[in-house]
Amino acid sequence: MAAKTMEELVSLCKRRGFIFQTNEIYGGLQGLFDYGPLGVELKNNLKQAWWSSMVYERDDVEGLDSSILTNPEVLKQSGHEDTFSDPLVDCRDCNARWRADHLEDNKCPSCGSENLTEPRPFNLMFKTSVGPVDDGSSFAYLRPETAQQIFTNFKNVIDSTSRSLPFGIAQIGKAFRNEVTPRNFIFRVREFEQMELEFFVEKGSDEKWHDFWVKSRVDWWKDQGVSESSLELLHVPKEELSHYSKATVDIMYKFPHGLEELEGVANRTDFDLGSHSKNQKDLKITAKVRENKTSNSKLAVQNRETNEWAVPFVIEPSAGVDRGVLAVLNEAYNVEGLGEGKQRTVLSLKPHLSPIKAAVIPLKKNNEELVNLAYKIKNQLQGLRLGRVLVENSGNIGKSYRRHDEVGTPICITVDFQTLEDGTVTIRDRDTMEQERKDIADLAQLLKEKLLA
Ligand code: GAP
Repeated sequence: MAAKTMEELVSLCKRRGFIFQTNEIYGGLQGLFDYGPLGVELKNNLKQAWWSSMVYERDDVEGLDSSILTNPEVLKQSGHEDTFSDPLVDCRDCNARWRADHLEDNKCPSCGSENLTEPRPFNLMFKTSVGPVDDGSSFAYLRPETAQQIFTNFKNVIDSTSRSLPFGIAQIGKAFRNEVTPRNFIFRVREFEQMELEFFVEKGSDEKWHDFWVKSRVDWWKDQGVSESSLELLHVPKEELSHYSKATVDIMYKFPHGLEELEGVANRTDFDLGSHSKNQKDLKITAKVRENKTSNSKLAVQNRETNEWAVPFVIEPSAGVDRGVLAVLNEAYNVEGLGEGKQRTVLSLKPHLSPIKAAVIPLKKNNEELVNLAYKIKNQLQGLRLGRVLVENSGNIGKSYRRHDEVGTPICITVDFQTLEDGTVTIRDRDTMEQERKDIADLAQLLKEKLLA
């Protein structure tokens, strides 16, 4: 069972330290959020799972971590300066601004007026000045997608790794969009993270690879605990495709506020590498690209048999980290009845995503022997480098179990007076709530098995 409302998730996230509103003490800043002590762990775990599956578990992908600030020429050639915009309308009565495609019945959501301006394009890219003189002559964009920095590094990666087609470049990092109406918690924000793979293939094999990546990405989301019944595929209609795309399949998820895009898998053809290449005429580029007089590089590969140069096609699975965090939180959130009118909130996260892998709880807060032993066990388990293990020294076992159910800790380990005598502890399982005694010597193996489950 998932959360019923976004409010339930927002409340849990604030109460337990997953996600806070940015600069809340000054009234916040719209469309921006901060990840708290548990949120940063969950987010890192999700990114690590993506990196492992995309880079380590494949033999045809390299990683990259590029700059956020981007030379304006890149985003001019990529088409973002001209086309990366939303249609904006103003309400003539209350002066509010809205995205035209988000309006119901063409009415202002704020005052209900129908006295709206015609839609006009509003470019979503953030600009900032570069260098000490702020006169507009030297500026950079904050990247609106991580992808462009992958394309501009294409030759660097090929030359330094001797890769041949098909191969991919993966990157996780921040992207910025001046969204007209940021909303629905971390679903639509102005600063967010993307996990993007640009997978370069030969023209002609692109459709086969597109199908492959759609399937592979759905399987990955299922491995993160997202149930198949919460996912749907949307084949984006031709007239709604981004300027670079020949075909896009959106992986849609049933968020608490409705069915919306979690990840897009696009066939970007040879548009991007073609757009950033010099001598475009010699390259037989399929896509319609803007003339490029500034690039000093040919982003193409040479066929070893014919010696001809060709610009690879690109298949791009692009997922939002923040939307991913929201989806896995929503899927894991559960309020369970325990009988006799009692209930518990439990976050049934996949253990590899849990912010805390195990909590070690001394039965009595002020008992030095128990507390010292708890820290010894914590240090042993922490040494396995499987993620965060902590000592929960509250002195209240019931409260500690409830807290750790709510934040998704797979196991709690209680150290009591019997432990001092026979070296056994009580292991309590988050999902079944069952308790059993185990030898301290077996804990490392038990935790490893739990995290691989
Ligand atoms: N490079 C392709 C690209 O950026 P996109 O569909 O615009 O395509 C990819 O974005 C993913 O980034 C989306 O599926 C979504 O998960 C995430 N995303 C986009 N805009 C976002 C926003 N304002 N807030 C949070 N996530 C966003």
